[in-house]
Amino acid sequence: MDIGIIGSGSIGATAARLFAGAGHNVAISNSRGPESLRDLVSDIGENASAASVDEAADFGEVVLVAIPFFAYEALPADRLSGKIVVDATNYYPGRDGEMDFGGLTSSEVISGHLSGALLVKAFNTMYYETLATGGDPSDNVQLVLFVSGDEVEAKSVVSRLIEEIGFAPKDLGSLKGSSRQQPGSPIYNVRLTREQARETLEDMD
Ligand SMILES: NC(=O)c1ccc[n+]([C@@H]2O[C@H](COP(=O)([O-])OP(=O)(O)OC[C@H]3O[C@@H](n4cnc5c(N)ncnc54)[C@H](OP(=O)(O)O)[C@@H]3O)[C@@H](O)[C@H]2O)c1
Repeated sequence: MDIGIIGSGSIGATAARLFAGAGHNVAISNSRGPESLRDLVSDIGENASAASVDEAADFGEVVLVAIPFFAYEALPADRLSGKIVVDATNYYPGRDGEMDFGGLTSSEVISGHLSGALLVKAFNTMYYETLATGGDPSDNVQLVLFVSGDEVEAKSVVSRLIEEIGFAPKDLGSLKGSSRQQPGSPIYNVRLTREQARETLEDMD
């Protein structure tokens, strides 16, 4: 599969490496442009290429967004329309500035900007160093990555990607329900097996 990556920092670069390692083609972008990505793509290898944000958006059947939340309005809504967009961002007021979402989740806010995109919240709950190594099949434990979204087929595609890189997907329901995987939640930034995730989610109900 062709996967666009917007944001080449801790999460974007880690996910790109994992997707490329699973045999997918990744086009990686950031705010500084393709020249700045030369070392990263050469390190990842032949499945990786450097791109502008627009090129990464055009390239991907799936596009992973891994930028600071405050920059979401820079995402090219027209190019991402009709695509599966994975929202790995988190809203941190201290970093992103105080914002009033009017009761929406941060992913619903992004979905409002990206009208026409099939938005799936995922990859936001796990620290990037855990993501980098936690899917190793030689480990005895398989860790959970959570997915939320309103489009069932889009969630299936993202869940398959999660499985391919060695993690267990857990569907939390709608994009509204992504509030359960936001910062501050008991399942946020915690290493959880499937069973531990089930118990923790039960305690949250
Ligand atoms: N760090 C983690 O463990 C972790 C885990 C889960 C979720 N997250 C979330 O994932 C998001 C990214 O976190 P991170 O730690 O990977 O951040 P990071 O290391 O600071 O990287 C951010 C990336 O976003 C790019 N960027 C910023 N504005 C952009 C724009 N307008 N257009 C295109 N690219 C832009 C930056 O480009 P340049 O390289 O050109 O500056 C950089 O590559 C955040 O929302 C964070 O809360 C982080």
